[in-house]
Amino acid sequence: MNKNKVYIETYGCQMNVADSELVMGILSRQGYELTKEIDEADVILINTCSVRDNAEQRIFGRLGNIKKIKDSHSGAVVGILGCMAERLRDDLIKNKNLVDIVVGPDEYRRLPSFIESAIGGVKGIGVKLSRTETYEDIEPYREEGLSAWISVMRGCDKFCAYCVVPFTRGRERSRSLDSIVSEIEKLSVRGFREVTLLGQNVNSYNYEGKDFADLLNAAAKVDRQIRIRFTTSHPQDLSAKLLYAIAENPNVCNYIHLPVQSGSNRILRLMNRNYTIEHYLELIEKARKIIPGVSFSTDIIAGYPTETEEDHQATLDVLKRVEYDGAYMFKYSPREGTKAYKMEDDVPNEIKTRRLNEIIALQQSISLKKNQALIGTEDVVLVEGFSKKSENYLAGKTDANKVVVFPKSEGVVPGDYVNVKITGATSATLFGEFLGKTVLNEFADGISA
Ligand code: 5AD
Ligand code: SF4
Repeated sequence: MNKNKVYIETYGCQMNVADSELVMGILSRQGYELTKEIDEADVILINTCSVRDNAEQRIFGRLGNIKKIKDSHSGAVVGILGCMAERLRDDLIKNKNLVDIVVGPDEYRRLPSFIESAIGGVKGIGVKLSRTETYEDIEPYREEGLSAWISVMRGCDKFCAYCVVPFTRGRERSRSLDSIVSEIEKLSVRGFREVTLLGQNVNSYNYEGKDFADLLNAAAKVDRQIRIRFTTSHPQDLSAKLLYAIAENPNVCNYIHLPVQSGSNRILRLMNRNYTIEHYLELIEKARKIIPGVSFSTDIIAGYPTETEEDHQATLDVLKRVEYDGAYMFKYSPREGTKAYKMEDDVPNEIKTRRLNEIIALQQSISLKKNQALIGTEDVVLVEGFSKKSENYLAGKTDANKVVVFPKSEGVVPGDYVNVKITGATSATLFGEFLGKTVLNEFADGISA
């Protein structure tokens, strides 16, 4: 084979980042080599996202550039992977005289043969969804590093009314617990320090009777010096057992991404979220009791169909009541095929923008206040490398996933855990003073009462 250099570009969620590593795992077994230079690639793959229209528009824009590269010199095979492949299927091949292959999230095993055919001039499309594919036997291609994503389940059965994911990624299925544990064992040997267990809805992990709490307990035991994170949790399935598993494992980070989406019960019902705000707030309270110091982040959608000023105020109110450490905030974007698509997208764009800006401003002021309250406290930071702005400073993250920047210190290298004293804060970054190297505590920090 002479067409053997693959370039891959990834959009969307962390699941896609993990999938791109999987794709490279599949292709490297077949003798392909990864390149970071699009200009020297024989195969250009774009792993795409459909969650909002602006994500798709950005990717269409990028495809325009790629067409220029292909036409001007490289003649590379171009493939679209991921959620847009699943959603748009052969339109991608028909509309743009650019794309050679279209492969959805459950058909990556067939990529080598699609690429071979495309090199021979035959376009290909594979977009069947599977009820069983988890790729658990495939070792993802990972460069050396500290931090790894591990997908523990695929798909989603929740069918939130606005969301395209159940259509692009199919039904929920979980990987075996043993295969996940053995992947973490390998990462431990390679010196990784942080593993994030991924799924669209990790709380419904279930493999031969083992639930997500069982998985967390098993994953945390592999190496107590590896921090375990996980995302995303759905408020409906966050069990007490899971909260105790977080509290009782010192290396499971006390940080829960728990999207609320809206503060209005009427909107939550229309979104098919299956919980009320009262239930959600109780859950937060329960988690705070079981896991002292736990942090939360959330996702918010502004301008859902029929959303009134009162509904919007209810969302602002939830942000104030919970005081999240961070939030991902979006304008509602209608997605074809979803239940919400049948409703009129009746909140005008200017109003969506204004509401979104109010949400962002409020959250920023909360993040700033919460970060400033940390000044004077001490925390453990996993050192990742130099800070973005200067090689005189190092940066890393706390258990609560906050970035801390502190002056470089002799003998401190990426992968070290260090104690820092927080001395300053913005809404996005903490500044600290280096106190000394440390290791992760082996004892639980939660109460079991
Ligand atoms: N419009 C806007 N935001 C959306 N999300 C999912 N679908 C849509 C949509 N149609 C947001 C949700 C979800 C996050 C990953 O993306 O907040 O939690
Ligand atoms: Fe985008 Fe959702 Fe697909 Fe992730 S699962 S790539 S967020 S559409």
